Amino acid sequence: MGGPPNGFGAHPLPVGALERTEVQREMSESTERSIEEVLKDDHDEMEETWERAREMRARGDPQATEVYEQFIHALQEHISVEEQELFPHSLKTRGTDVRPLVEQLQREHMVIQTVLGKIHGDLTSGHAVSEEDEDALRNLLGIHNAREEGFYYPDFDGRFSQTQEGRELSRNVLAGCHCGKH
Ligand SMILES: [Fe+2]
Ligand SMILES: [Fe+2]
Repeated sequence: MGGPPNGFGAHPLPVGALERTEVQREMSESTERSIEEVLKDDHDEMEETWERAREMRARGDPQATEVYEQFIHALQEHISVEEQELFPHSLKTRGTDVRPLVEQLQREHMVIQTVLGKIHGDLTSGHAVSEEDEDALRNLLGIHNAREEGFYYPDFDGRFSQTQEGRELSRNVLAGCHCGKH
């Protein structure tokens, strides 16, 4: 008989399509943004500020220091939200399975803050910021932000976005975000 197949198998849905549709419907029903969206935006915003400060400095713009200070302030606020709001909540509610990841992120924050302190010291004392410190910070943030965006934030959202406490925490983080867009 032959003929083209119809019904099942004619246009198979890719694996996971149904699940994605469910997720998309749930997301479109919610007006709340996820931790991943908010904090990834914050990463992107800080990177733009950092690049702007470096470009301004390269062409001798005297406002460069002010923009650099904005970047440092934004990064310190961002780290503070993660350290004081997110990590304690993860450790309290998830216990030992998330501890290695959180401890890794905390160690990275300490190193980032050390380099940030050196850069801030150079800026406030009128010294040129060392290229070595800038390269170190860029590398540290590249690895750290990728780890948070790839593992920590999605994990956090997956676990907590469905609970009242998690949603309240997300709102607090959103309210405290200093990226200027919320
Ligand atoms: Fe972080
Ligand atoms: Fe972050």
